[in-house]
Amino acid sequence: MSMKIGFIGLGRMGAGMAANLLAGGHEVTVFNRTPGKAQALVERGAHAAGRVADACRGNAVVTMLADDAAVEDVVFGDGGILGSLGKGAIHVSMSTISVALSERLTSVHADAGQRFVAAPVFGRPDAAASAKLFIAAAGAPDALDACSTLFESMGQKTYSIGTAPPTANLVKLSGNFLTASVIESLGEAMALVERAGVDRHRYLDFLTSTLFTAPVYKTYGELIAQRRFEPAAFAAPLGAKDIRLTLAVADSLRVPMPFASVLHDRFVTLLAHGGEALDWSAIGQLAAKDSGQATGL
Ligand SMILES: NC(=O)c1ccc[n+]([C@@H]2O[C@H](COP(=O)([O-])OP(=O)(O)OC[C@H]3O[C@@H](n4cnc5c(N)ncnc54)[C@H](OP(=O)(O)O)[C@@H]3O)[C@@H](O)[C@H]2O)c1
Repeated sequence: MSMKIGFIGLGRMGAGMAANLLAGGHEVTVFNRTPGKAQALVERGAHAAGRVADACRGNAVVTMLADDAAVEDVVFGDGGILGSLGKGAIHVSMSTISVALSERLTSVHADAGQRFVAAPVFGRPDAAASAKLFIAAAGAPDALDACSTLFESMGQKTYSIGTAPPTANLVKLSGNFLTASVIESLGEAMALVERAGVDRHRYLDFLTSTLFTAPVYKTYGELIAQRRFEPAAFAAPLGAKDIRLTLAVADSLRVPMPFASVLHDRFVTLLAHGGEALDWSAIGQLAAKDSGQATGL
């Protein structure tokens, strides 16, 4: 069943996701703050929206934006989603945003007679481009049902987290906390064995062929072993943002997460050393750097 939708945010993730919605037969109107990024999609059949409001005329509008500030600009700004989306239409928020903002969006969209679904994703831009994302979705059952055709076009599997949208954002943040923990731990373990002369590539091969076979060890282990952090697929400032948001919700729920505080400091170190343009996995090089085995970032 094809839908008429808007798609806002054509960055590393959004460009591939919007392309897959087009490939899935949906009528897609795209908007991006920097308009040039819409061109490739227009050539594949998308309509270009000159303003956010022009992307809000269908059954649903998807947002895939950097952070809370970007989502707030696009939703609450002049001619934003809140004032432009029709009654009963759905805002599908797929960015990794704070639980607090998701709570606010749930409430303001309901007050405006609109529906709100939070559907953050797991997977990097290559997964976005090949429709292999894992989607963690939460919202009212009728709204989730209506979005299922969109999710099928963008992902390999959608997990329904529940009826309260902020729970999906919480699950997403918890997942990125776990992934960042793996990156940091792998970086420390590799620095340790390499100091004693064990080849880090062979070490990674051993790990990922035995007890550590999950994709997260393979993907990030490769990047750390190869010391290849550019071009960024998931930029370090966005990774730092996710740990900050994890700590914020942990604080509000009174759940101590001491390791998240360590990760927060690791990101501050990375960014202080000029890591803005690197992939977030570059925190996995800090242990090698701290032990004098790697220079630069
Ligand atoms: N990259 C990954 O591996 C990955 C994986 C899972 C989830 N995520 C999450 O997905 C979201 C998008 O990530 P990404 O890697 O695609 O980021 P990105 O490449 O940096 O793209 C960010 C997008 O947000 C737009 N934007 C930023 N500030 C804005 C503002 N104030 N108003 C309007 N638009 C604004 C950018 O527009 P311009 O083009 O004009 O800058 C761009 O379209 C983030 O929440 C991220 O945490 C990323």
